[in-house]
Amino acid sequence: MTNRNGNTLISAALATLTLLGSMPAGADSKLKSGRQVYRSLCVQCHGPGPIDAPKLGDRKAWAPLIAEGQAVVTAHGWVGVREMPPRGGGHDLSLEEFGRAVAHMARASGAAWSEPDSDATLMAAIRTEVQARIAELEAKARNVADGGRTGEAVYRSVCTHCHEAGVAGAPRFGNRKDWKPLIDEGQHVITAHGWVGLRAMPPRGGHPELSLEEFARAVSFMAGAAGADWIDPTGDSALMARIREEEAERRTELAED
Ligand code: HEC
Ligand code: HEC
Repeated sequence: MTNRNGNTLISAALATLTLLGSMPAGADSKLKSGRQVYRSLCVQCHGPGPIDAPKLGDRKAWAPLIAEGQAVVTAHGWVGVREMPPRGGGHDLSLEEFGRAVAHMARASGAAWSEPDSDATLMAAIRTEVQARIAELEAKARNVADGGRTGEAVYRSVCTHCHEAGVAGAPRFGNRKDWKPLIDEGQHVITAHGWVGLRAMPPRGGHPELSLEEFARAVSFMAGAAGADWIDPTGDSALMARIREEEAERRTELAED
């Protein structure tokens, strides 16, 4: 299967999270600084703006994270937490670079965290936390029964956080230009890709309590607002089956990357 992004889309898929834990480190001499990474990527959500992320320099938001410790917080961010996408959506970042960006943000709120790559014990602790976290999330992310919410209700409670304003490159609600190439890809394809997660799109929109049916209805609602005439996928078992097939294919693709 091809997609408009080529095969560089290492992202969130829970089934491929295991891979994230074993990624090789980037070349040390070429590591980006935490500030560089922050400015190129993290600022989209951790800088000023509508997203409910712990903001740079917000001591109140960072205090509980700093208390949790550098290894835990770095690992949780790397794996992804709710609407925090894995690696902050930076699929080409090394764990060291990501860790530097976390330290940069924590220092801006008073922590004395050093660059993690300067401390082998800390790096080992981060990797251990990553594995523990992946196991924890995999155990939680089993099939969720359809909670019956409409696509519009799901959109308004969750997807709007990013898709209203286009945070981190999210296709904007009702924007035909943003949605045209997605609509052309087809309902089953983009539903599956969004569900699994790609770049700064967190798996399941960051809400593991959503069922695939609810997520699919939300995608259909959003595409409809941009001109598509997609059906409610729930009533169409053949379409649901194609979405699941595409999901499985996508997970395999990400695992092979
Ligand atoms: C698309 C938005 C988005 C981007 C981009 C993003 N974050 Fe986040 N981040 C969030 C949100 C939302 C939270 C709060 C998650 C929660 O607790 O529900 C968060 C939380 C975190 C946390 C706290 C994890 C914990 O233990 O609770 C860390 C660390 C973090 N982000 C690091 C980063 C770094 C480093 C980058 C850039 C490489 C980045 N984020 C990019 C949205 C984003
Ligand atoms: C934390 C931010 C965030 C939230 C919350 C979010 N999205 Fe997204 N979404 C994104 C971003 C960013 C992209 C663009 C990803 C890319 O192509 O780089 C995206 C892309 C998508 C795509 C296109 C996938 C493709 O094949 O390119 C779909 C479908 C989608 N989102 C559905 C949803 C639905 C449904 C919800 C709510 C249940 C949701 N999103 C919630 C950030 C978000």
